[in-house]
Order: sequence, then C-alpha cells, then structure tokens
Amino acid sequence: MLENAQMKIAVFSTKQYDRASLEEANAGRHELHFLEPHLDEATAPLAHGHDAVCAFVNDRLDAPVLELLAAGGVRLVALRCAGFNHVDVSAAQRLGMTVARVPAYSPHAVAEHTVGLMLALNRKLHRAFNRVREANFALEGLLGFDMNGRTAGVIGTGRIGAVVARILQGFGCEVLAFDPFPEEHCRAAGVRYVSIDELLSASDIITLHCPLTAENHHLINADALARMKPGVMLINTSRGGLLDTRAVIGALKSGRLGHVGLDVYEEEGEMFFEDLSSTILHDDIFSRLLTFPNVIITGHQAFFTREALENIASTTIGNITEFETTGRCTNAVTVNA
Ligand code: NAI
Repeated sequence: MLENAQMKIAVFSTKQYDRASLEEANAGRHELHFLEPHLDEATAPLAHGHDAVCAFVNDRLDAPVLELLAAGGVRLVALRCAGFNHVDVSAAQRLGMTVARVPAYSPHAVAEHTVGLMLALNRKLHRAFNRVREANFALEGLLGFDMNGRTAGVIGTGRIGAVVARILQGFGCEVLAFDPFPEEHCRAAGVRYVSIDELLSASDIITLHCPLTAENHHLINADALARMKPGVMLINTSRGGLLDTRAVIGALKSGRLGHVGLDVYEEEGEMFFEDLSSTILHDDIFSRLLTFPNVIITGHQAFFTREALENIASTTIGNITEFETTGRCTNAVTVNA
C-alpha cells in the first residue's frame, strides 16, 4: 500500500509497456493495480473496492459490466484510448459514473502508420522482403505506382485525418475529403471537401479516419465499394466496424479493390494484442483476408510509438487526478460528445 496514494485504480488488459509508462507518469500518486485480463462480466469483480478502472480498446464496457463496476464502488472509467465506441456512455451516466478518455495522444503515430501501409502495399514491400531473403531478385509482380499526382480521399479530417492529408499532399497527391464538420485549416492547405459519393468515385486511395458510431457502422459496404474506382486502395486504421469485411473480401475477389491495408478489424477483440501463434485461428473471415497478396493487416499498432505511450499515460493519470480533486474531468465523454 502506498502512503500518499489517493485513488485506487484497477488497470485492465495490462501489457508490460502499459505498466512501464503508467508507473512512470503516476510517480506514486495513485495506487495502481495492474491486471492482465480483459475487462468483461467475469473479470469486473476484480475491480471491487477500487475507485476507478483503467481500460483499453477491447475491454467490454457495456451496461452489465458497468453495473457490476458501479456496484463495486467504481466511479470513474479512465480509458487509455481515444475511441469510446465500446462504452455504453448512457448507462455510465445513469449509474453516475464518469467516463474519461485520451482525446489526442499522437495523431502523428496513427497518420504515419497509415501512410506506411499505403507505401508498403503500393510498392509491395512485404513481398519484396520475403523474396530477397530467398535470393529471388525478380521484379515481376512488384510493380507499383507513383503517389505523386494521384487522388487520395480522406474520410474524417479531425486530428489524424488532417495529418494524413498533409503528408499525402507532401507526396504530391490531390487530397479530397469528406467530413460533416470540415476544418478550415485543411481547406486553406488545399484539401477539397466533396460529397462522400464524389470521394468514393474519384479517389485512387481511400483512407478512413472517422470515429465508429451507430450511424456509420459499415460505412464501406457493398454499395460503397461498387462506387469506387476499379483497383482502388482502401486503408482502415480507425475502427473495424466501419468496414463490412465480407463485402471487402468480395471486392478483393472481383478486383474492385486493388489493395487493402487494415490496422483494425470488426472482430479483433478476441485476437489482437495477444500472441496466438501456437493456436488455431477460428475466424474464417479473417483467415480469408490473410490469403490475399494485396492485403496487409497489422494488429491495432498504429498508435504504438514511444511518444504516444507517454502521452496516453500522462493524460490518463491527469484525468484521474483531476477527477479526484474536482469530481469532474475535462476529457469526460457524454452521450452527446
Ligand atoms: P477526431 O475526433 O479528431 O476526428 C474525427 C473526425 O471524423 C471529425 O472531424 C469528425 O467530424 C469526423 N467524422 C465523424 N463522423 C464522420 C463520418 N460519418 N464521416 C466522415 N467524417 C466523420 O478523431 P481522431 O483523433 O482523428 O481519431 C479518429 C479515429 O481514429 C478515432 O475515432 C479512433 O477510432 C481511431 N484511432 C485509431 C488508432 C489506432 O491505433 N489504430 C489510435 C487512435 C485513434
């Protein structure tokens, strides 16, 4: 027990890197209990007697879990992520719990990984890497295209989308964007806001940077895919539910999609962040995606830079301290947030 500890926090889904960054940012301020399991109905009782839980993207924070947490005395859910699509915020409000998030920790981390996926897919770096290791120096099958002069469509120009737009403009791309709330600074930098229809039909590269909401679930479905240019590159580093993965597989088979880069997946909760290399994958849709040579999947690692981890930890501890001292949180999310 720490002498100067104020809040007791149950930290779920802890990895070694979470522990290291949170302990450094906390500097003994609060009492952190690190737990490896995901948060769900079975593990929620582990938080009994704590003031707060600290949770990540694949922890379950639906009404039944929140009710168990509230009954155990938890008053704060401190998310160590930006997205809160996995939290039943209305239920939390009804239970008198505050939900705080880390609204921005490094848009650069996610934007740079997004562009990394584009470059790897375009120039087929994943295939070239393997070939050269086998002394196969043939170039057939590795043909790419100049990014310069291509049209890129950015869906969602908030913190991350705006950085992606800027990097792509640096490559000489024409950047189109769709966002219900256009950003003046993007417009001033030459981003052209268009309708979603125009973006889908005019872009050579389409990249998703909007949050997942009930309204835009499966934003990219069979109908949207049919409106895209044949051979288009599609990138999703935002949230898996934005894509209808079955429809994506259909479009890969027909050739409508020429390249797909994913850092997120609809059903990632059971797989991502774990080493499953000695087990059998039971998700046939995911397994099918892995068979395409023009698909690259990373396991929700776009955020994973040193700078981002430090910012996540310091903002999370700041959220907890603010809640403890004022009973409120600047980074709280509400139903209308
Ligand atoms: P942000 O809140 O700064 O920007 C989101 C933008 O999307 C806003 O401008 C908003 O008006 C726009 N938007 C909302 N609904 C839209 C729709 N239906 N169509 C088009 N635009 C829409 O969020 P930020 O920080 O840029 O993050 C974006 C998303 O990236 C997060 O919601 C999260 O899901 C994802 N993310 C992924 C990470 C990863 O490691 N793969 C890490 C961090 C965030």
